[in-house]
Order: sequence, then C-alpha cells, then structure tokens
Amino acid sequence: MTLQFRKLHPHFVAEASGVDLRRVHDTETLEGIRAGMDEHAVLVFRDQAFSSEEQLAFATRLDGELHRKTGISVLAKSRFGDEAITDVSNVDADGALLQADDRKRQYGIANRLWHTDASFQDPRGRYSMLAALALPPVASDTEFADMRAAYDTLADETKASLQGLRAHHSIAYSRVTLGFEFSEEESDRLKGAIQPLVLENPRTGRRSLYLASHASRILDRPVPDGRLLLRDLMEHATQPERVYRHSWCSGDFLIWDNRATMHRARPFDDTVHRREMRRVTTLDTGDPARIAQAV
Ligand code: OGA
Ligand code: MN
Repeated sequence: MTLQFRKLHPHFVAEASGVDLRRVHDTETLEGIRAGMDEHAVLVFRDQAFSSEEQLAFATRLDGELHRKTGISVLAKSRFGDEAITDVSNVDADGALLQADDRKRQYGIANRLWHTDASFQDPRGRYSMLAALALPPVASDTEFADMRAAYDTLADETKASLQGLRAHHSIAYSRVTLGFEFSEEESDRLKGAIQPLVLENPRTGRRSLYLASHASRILDRPVPDGRLLLRDLMEHATQPERVYRHSWCSGDFLIWDNRATMHRARPFDDTVHRREMRRVTTLDTGDPARIAQAV
C-alpha cells in the first residue's frame, strides 16, 4: 500500500493510511508526509507501535533537528533518558498515578490551555509527534485549532495591522496564569522567546496566526493593549468551526504543525485514570527535505 490521505475536517486534519512509520525511510514517502503536513497541518496515523528510539529516529528522518530544551526538563529529568522525548503522561517514573498536588501533574495539566509546542524557544517548534500508549476508559481528547483559517478569515485591515508585530512567549507565563509557582532558578531557565504574530510557511506561502497561552505580551505595545489583542485573536482562532476534536485510540500517532495549529488537552479525571503519551517535537530550522536527506 502507499500513503493516502482522507480529510477529517473541512479546513484541516487528515487521516493518513498505508504506512508503518517505523519502516518509512524512502525519500518519496517522507516527502509525501511533508506535503501532507503542508496541506492538512495535522495528520492522524493509526496502529503505530513505536518504541522511544524508533519515535526519535522517525522524527529525525522526517524533520531533522529535535527540540530538547523542553519546559518540563527544568522541573525533572525525562524518565526516558533523552530530553527529546517529552513524557505527556500522568504517571511517575515507577508508573504510579500522579497525585493531585504533584508539581509534574500541575505543570502538565496546563496543556489544557490552548497552545503551540516550543513557541517559548528559539528556534521554535515545527512538528510535534504524539504517540498514544495507554488510554483511560473515559474520553481524554485533544482539540486542534486551524491557525491558517484563523488568519485567512481576519479582516484585511486587521491583517495589515498585525504585520511586523511580535509577541513574547514564555511557558512560565502560561503556568503562572493558572497559579503555578516557579523557583527563581527555574524562572531564570524559562525566560522565553520573541516570535512573530504571523508566520508564513516558506514551502507554501500560506500564512497563519502564531498564538499560544504562552504569549505574554506584544512588543512595542502597552501591556493591557497587547494582552487584549492577544485575547481577541485567541477567541477568533478557537471558534468551533475552526476546531477539530481528536478522540484517541490506542496506537494513534498524530503529527501536527505547530506553526499552523494550536492544540489543547481536554479534561478527564486524571487522578483516577492512567493516560500515557510520548511526544517528540522538531525545531523550525532549515529545510526538512534537505536535512532529512543528509541524515
Ligand atoms: C502535547 C499536548 C495534549 C494532550 O503533547 O504537546 O499538548 O491531550 N498534548 O495530551
Ligand atoms: Mn502541547
């Protein structure tokens, strides 16, 4: 079988079939996946059985450089021995459920805010690849918002007014808005990054709004004005017609473009039910096709 796409939403998101990603090494299929990402921004693959090593190797083949300066690494070392694997699970190193007051849990449930991965780093995140290993018996969905449609549907004068604007993104900021506290040393290591408010995919020329709950302020704007603009844009971007909700099945493997989408975890009873997910994110640097060929 060969790689095929079936749309899951009118604007973005497709289910991809016909490939076992662990075995995809050929340039043509890798380029087919990149083209699918350019078109759909989120791809859903079923029944993928990655080990951590295989997931890291696939991410490198597809998109080159891996994101290792994760926010969570400031709190605790990865239990997988490589900071490129982000543990998006609600269990501790021994596999026991995290308690309600556990810092790692409290930090992790901030994924319920709309965000993009690694916008608080420079270079920013490009593709995230999330594998579902163990799922609760209740829904624990993830929602995605189409940030290209969000940009396209802005009024022309709004688009013009956003050109050249930049926002400061900090993962500490999004957590602090929920009451999470960081030590001085942690805050020092989580200073954040400056990002444009509008991004353009160099391969397609398509523009997207680049927002996240990590965005703390707009540079060169007074704080309240900038924050109000960010809130307005966030509200616009997350209107239901631009949102896809993914109901996970075990073995699902999702790839999303952090430049073209936002996402958020939906709540479930996480102190009762185990949910184990592993994510690898790549960096928005260089041309993926060229990098992947050199690997
Ligand atoms: C992530 C993330 C959401 C979820 O892995 O980056 O935000 O539903 N996950 O686990
Ligand atoms: Mn995320």
